[in-house]
Amino acid sequence: MGKLKGSLLFLSVVSSLLERLIAVDTITPARSINDSQTIVSPGQKFELGFFKIGNPSGQYLGIWYKNLPIRTFVWVGNRESPLINSSGLLKLGDDGRLAIVNESGSVIWSSNSSRTAKMPVAQLLDTGNFVVKDAGDDNDESYIWQSFDYPSDTLLPGMKLGWNTKTGLNRYLTSWNSSDDPSPGEYTYSVDPRGLPQLVLRKGPVELFRSGPWYGTQFSGVPVLQVNPVFTPIFVSNADEVYYTYNITANIPSRFMLSQSGSVQHLSWNDRHSNWYVLFTVQEDRCDNYGLCGSYGICNINKSPNCDCLKGFEPKSSKDWEVLDWAGGCVRKDPRICHEGEGFVKFTGLKLPDASQFRVNVRMTIEDCEAECLKNCSCAAYAKFDIRGTGNGCVTWYGDLIDIREVPGYGQDLSIRMSASALALHADTSNKRKNVIISTSISVASAMIILALIGWFVIWKRKIVRANQPENQMTISKVESQEDLELPLFEFATIQAATDNFSAANKIGEGGFGPVYKGELQSGQEVAVKRLAENSGQGLQEFKNEVILISKLQHRNLVKLLGCCIEREERTLIYEYMPNRSLDSLIFDETRRPSLDWRRRHDIIVGIARGLLYLHRDSRLRIIHRDLKASNVLLDNEMNPKISDFGLARMFGGDQTEANTKRVVGTYGYMPPEYAIDGNFSLKSDVFSFGVILLEMVSGKKNRGFFHPDHKLNLLGHAWKLWNEEKALELMDELMEQEYPEHEAIRCIQVGLLCVQQRPEDRPVMQTVLLMLDSESMSLPQPGRPGFYAERSLSETESSSLGKLISNEMTVTLLEGR
Ligand SMILES: *[C@@H]1O[C@H](CO)[C@@H](O)[C@H](O)[C@H]1NC(C)=O
Ligand SMILES: *[C@@H]1O[C@H](CO)[C@@H](O)[C@H](O)[C@H]1NC(C)=O
Ligand SMILES: *[C@@H]1O[C@H](CO)[C@@H](O)[C@H](O)[C@H]1NC(C)=O
Ligand SMILES: *[C@@H]1O[C@H](CO)[C@@H](O)[C@H](O)[C@H]1NC(C)=O
Ligand SMILES: *[C@@H]1O[C@H](CO)[C@@H](O)[C@H](O)[C@H]1NC(C)=O
Ligand SMILES: *[C@@H]1O[C@H](CO)[C@@H](O)[C@H](O)[C@H]1NC(C)=O
Ligand SMILES: *[C@@H]1O[C@H](CO)[C@@H](O)[C@H](O)[C@H]1NC(C)=O
Repeated sequence: MGKLKGSLLFLSVVSSLLERLIAVDTITPARSINDSQTIVSPGQKFELGFFKIGNPSGQYLGIWYKNLPIRTFVWVGNRESPLINSSGLLKLGDDGRLAIVNESGSVIWSSNSSRTAKMPVAQLLDTGNFVVKDAGDDNDESYIWQSFDYPSDTLLPGMKLGWNTKTGLNRYLTSWNSSDDPSPGEYTYSVDPRGLPQLVLRKGPVELFRSGPWYGTQFSGVPVLQVNPVFTPIFVSNADEVYYTYNITANIPSRFMLSQSGSVQHLSWNDRHSNWYVLFTVQEDRCDNYGLCGSYGICNINKSPNCDCLKGFEPKSSKDWEVLDWAGGCVRKDPRICHEGEGFVKFTGLKLPDASQFRVNVRMTIEDCEAECLKNCSCAAYAKFDIRGTGNGCVTWYGDLIDIREVPGYGQDLSIRMSASALALHADTSNKRKNVIISTSISVASAMIILALIGWFVIWKRKIVRANQPENQMTISKVESQEDLELPLFEFATIQAATDNFSAANKIGEGGFGPVYKGELQSGQEVAVKRLAENSGQGLQEFKNEVILISKLQHRNLVKLLGCCIEREERTLIYEYMPNRSLDSLIFDETRRPSLDWRRRHDIIVGIARGLLYLHRDSRLRIIHRDLKASNVLLDNEMNPKISDFGLARMFGGDQTEANTKRVVGTYGYMPPEYAIDGNFSLKSDVFSFGVILLEMVSGKKNRGFFHPDHKLNLLGHAWKLWNEEKALELMDELMEQEYPEHEAIRCIQVGLLCVQQRPEDRPVMQTVLLMLDSESMSLPQPGRPGFYAERSLSETESSSLGKLISNEMTVTLLEGR
């Protein structure tokens, strides 16, 4: 048996070696291939050769994935002229022209190039691109011909969709006629370069769908084409080229395909199921049908009927409108918009419209843009060109606006020209709405709002000094493009099955950006599934952050990410499951807490310190967690602590140790003063949070919400008071079972107090903290005053208003710079 296995293995090794020897990856004028030969890319990713399909069957030259069990064609050469009842040859001419010839020697297909080569070779690359180049010339700019310039129905990562304005080359996808007929079908997907370039799907000449213009980072109307951890859309528009392309950072086969029925899908290979699955379809719903609501109509998928007229407009034909025929669109109630006191009304959350003409000025400010549009009576609307800028760039629309839809939480602002009377109407209703909001708020929680405003005002005054400084840019995109993410992708259906369709019974908590569910995979493995709440813009950022950071981290004291799922609008993270839940559910629970003896507590403290040290110093990245707290420390079945929730973590470059943010996010009670008040964070902010956890562990009490009959100090202040009165051991948890070595406990408290000192520079780094905890002999300095040791260490108003508004457990945004 073993021998048989051995020789089978030997045979398969030999045969794969042979295969590699025989499989050539180039075609030269001296070496053609016939219809029983193929060439394979150097990394064994793609294969090119002839294939037979259809009835009556024809032979086509194609490229497919070499190692997938399902033959998937990504390119077809002679789509319109199959070889029928004939064998074929693929030849490379001395001039660098590829040709397919049939049995009787007639050329039935050939490549076309304006240039010729001296020593041409044709090679299949690992990207799936089949190129003709001069031997020895590896510059991809100088390919004589490439299959990527003549797409079929598939857009592979790195392939360009769009125009080369110099040569006039237009690359676009054309569907197959049917699943066994590669000849060009009716659907095309191309870049429409007029005005603001956008992607357009057509059936014959009829426009079915458009992406909306690209405005700096994404398309106006296609939320699914956003950057996500594994997918980066790229749009280039300059004097020479206008094209769309994309990058994939996961190491899995992945492609866009225009199906025979005209849907543009992004598919990804799933190894476990050995099949393709659709990550998303570019057209999502009915409102994506081009011009469904006619001109000046607006489509909302959550309303019934879907179409409505923009405010200030009415149906052109109310009869048609009543029978749900919206194509006629809407007209102005008051058509006086030419130098008759007209102005603009800003609509938000829209997919930018189509019109007969756009104009773009990338240098104009938004104020000049408005003035420009106002001047010309056929200018119907204007908007910012690039939302990333601070107002730079101007787009103006001429003629009727069409194909507008609401894209809540994603779309852009559009200012539409309105008559004076319509303007008055708008001003009126928006005032009314404001009044309603204010009056209800006052009746519900007036006191709270006023308190909050006072508190925010005080803090805002301190912040205003910094308001002009730019936000420190430690963007995660840097990591994204530098290193590959090799994170398993889960199928959404798998996650649904594992969590019993996210049933309430399976919910085990609330993470930084959404609920957390317990699940069980088919293999029986238990997992924790964190699901990004819908329409959460900030949540998406945190999700990305978490995926990118944590997928690169491996340490026994950090929670392990098993994979993620990005499908349509669903974003979920899949972690190993922690049966002992989070630390706070243990140490703040009077029934569970007593079982936690000194040894265990000490081990957990040291474990957290190790995890943090790894983040700060030992991982390839330098990471500040920014939201370390008892509820973000999970315990496995052996009570090993694991730090979790990296949604707010920040990565530091090189020697940088400090940064500032206008958006202070964290958890009250664990945030050091320099961060909560000034937005400064550094490795020492995490040290502070660690100190708080340490003191909570030994005392069994929460820092925030700590109460003592004799004074108004919080846990930190109380611990410091006891320390100075040399009664530190009174801090120890009275519910702790068994004895503990007193010197060790005192030492531990001292380390905790050192970590929570007011001044960041006085706090030890994590490396020192570990040394202090581990070694008996090292002498420790006396701790200074802790930061936030009393409720009163913020001003009275600040702390009481913030304290009341902010719950202890939630991660909150304290200050948000504008
Ligand atoms: C294709 O070429 C190979 C190698 O030259 C040869 O062995 C084979 O018989 C050819 N097949 C056909 C169908 O001509
Ligand atoms: C191909 O061959 C089959 C049978 O050999 C024949 O019936 C058919 O007409 C041929 N088709 C063409 C296009 O020559
Ligand atoms: C080869 O192609 C030519 C031109 O299309 C055609 O006339 C001829 O019949 C083909 N030969 C075979 C064997 O199919
Ligand atoms: C080949 O290119 C020339 C000019 O570059 C063009 O006129 C001709 O139509 C092209 N032929 C094909 C088959 O694309
Ligand atoms: C595409 O298929 C239809 C029927 O499915 C057929 O009528 C049509 O001729 C085909 N088009 C081409 C170009 O082969
Ligand atoms: C996309 O990927 C290619 C190859 O990995 C790389 O050269 C290029 O810089 C990437 N582009 C972006 C915008 O990330
Ligand atoms: C207004 O804009 C349109 C469209 O660009 C243009 O044709 C027309 O000449 C402009 N009118 C004036 C007065 O500038």
